[in-house]
Order: sequence, then structure tokens, then C-alpha cells
Amino acid sequence: MELKAIFDRLWHDYTSQNPSARKIFNIFNDEGENVVNDHIAFRTLDLEDIDINALVTPFIKNGYVTRGEYHFEEKHLYAKHFEIPGDKNAPRIFISQLILDDVSPFIREVFREAFLTVDRKKLDSSNLIFAGQIFNPISYRMYQMLREESEYAAWFYVFGFRANHFTVSVNALKKYNSIYKVNDLLKKYGFRLNTSGGEVKGTREELLQQSSTMADLVRVDFEDGTYEIPSCYYEFAQRYPDANGELYSGFIATSADKIFESTNLYKNR
Ligand code: NI
Repeated sequence: MELKAIFDRLWHDYTSQNPSARKIFNIFNDEGENVVNDHIAFRTLDLEDIDINALVTPFIKNGYVTRGEYHFEEKHLYAKHFEIPGDKNAPRIFISQLILDDVSPFIREVFREAFLTVDRKKLDSSNLIFAGQIFNPISYRMYQMLREESEYAAWFYVFGFRANHFTVSVNALKKYNSIYKVNDLLKKYGFRLNTSGGEVKGTREELLQQSSTMADLVRVDFEDGTYEIPSCYYEFAQRYPDANGELYSGFIATSADKIFESTNLYKNR
């Protein structure tokens, strides 16, 4: 599948889960801005067949290579980011995975057992990024239990394979050319920003500043009822040049730790 088709399909699914992202995208367009994606992020588990290496397959086929790796110790995550060498317009692909050996035996067993029942047809690596929720059935009770320990695990249990967030490149905006101007615009339109760790994560010295909306709530049918839970969020990234004058292209583990909390409405209330 060609990149454009991949991104269109991911965007379509993402905006149907997260209508705020579509509204914000339209606001930028109405303001005369051309929205470019800084990166697109995915979540998974470190189980063979669905780990980062499996998930990234369609991007590798389209010329992406590994450009960075990250450890989020507090959240028990390992992540990698991918780029197309020489193509500054291609969004970075950021994929994190939960390290099951580092979480509680409870979470580890839930996923290992649930994984045994997954329809293997869904796990074809060429299409895995579109597979959505792979566990069937899912229960709200289990979602809440996972959430007690790991918001990340709970999100993945329900939403599975889809873009967790798209990220607007602030550098590519003309009028709203700073993360603070973007945040002011979003607040003017009534969007809620993730304030965990401050509205802006990262510093100019760290060469990357990011902010994000709080995730929209979506209704999900569980085997034990229908509930509204947070889905995906929209993110904004401003990058600064490094000592060589090159725009920094990586991700910073400490601030990304806070960004992960954009799907954690309960903690932010
Ligand atoms: Ni991100």
C-alpha cells in the first residue's frame, strides 16, 4: 500500500474517533495554514507478531528507517521513531510498546491470555496498523482494572491498532508559528489542553516543545455495557535547531512521559 493511502486511511479512522482533531484541522485551514504532520504515533505490546517491528512493516516497505529509540522507564515503555532519509515532508512514525516483563503479573497475564484468542488473520503485518481492537470480547470491568495500573495498557486493550495521535508540525505553520500561539488559538475555540506537566512539554533547550488536546470521549460497547471513555488526542510540536543548525528530529523521553497522559482524563480532572 502506498504511503498516501496509508495516511488517508489512518486519518479517516482517527478523525472519526476524535472529531476535535478534524475541527482543529479545519480551523487551521480556515486560517490559511497548510497542516503538515510532524509525526503519527502508535501503541502496542512487546509480543512477537504485534511488536514495533511487526507494526512498522508497511512504513519500512515505503522507505522508512529507524532514527531513534527511547526508554520510558516510569511507564514501562520502549519506543522507536522512523523517518524516510532525505524526505523532510514525510511524517515521523513513532511506535511505543509496553514491556510486559516490567508490568505487574496481572497485566502480563491478561494480555498473554487474551492474545491466544486473537483471530490470527488480523495479525498480517502489512495491515496490522489498521486492525483496531483485536481482543474479543472486551469488558469495561477489565478496562478499569487495567487502567488502575496503566492507562496505556487500558487504551491499547480497547482501541488497539490505529493512530493514537497525529501531531501538527508547528514549524510548518506560517501565522501560528509558535506552540504558544497554537495553544492560544485552541483555547479561544474552547478546546481543552492537557495540562499535566504544564501546557507546553519540553523546553527550547531540549529542542522540542509539544502540547496536546485532551482526548475526546467515545462510546464503546463492552460485553458488560456501553460506556464513554477517552479515545485519541491531537498533538502539536515545535522543533528547534541544534548546535549544527539542523532542526532536532528526535523525541525527548521526559516530556513524552507527560504527553502520554493526554488520554488520562481521570488523572487530569
Ligand atoms: Ni507524539
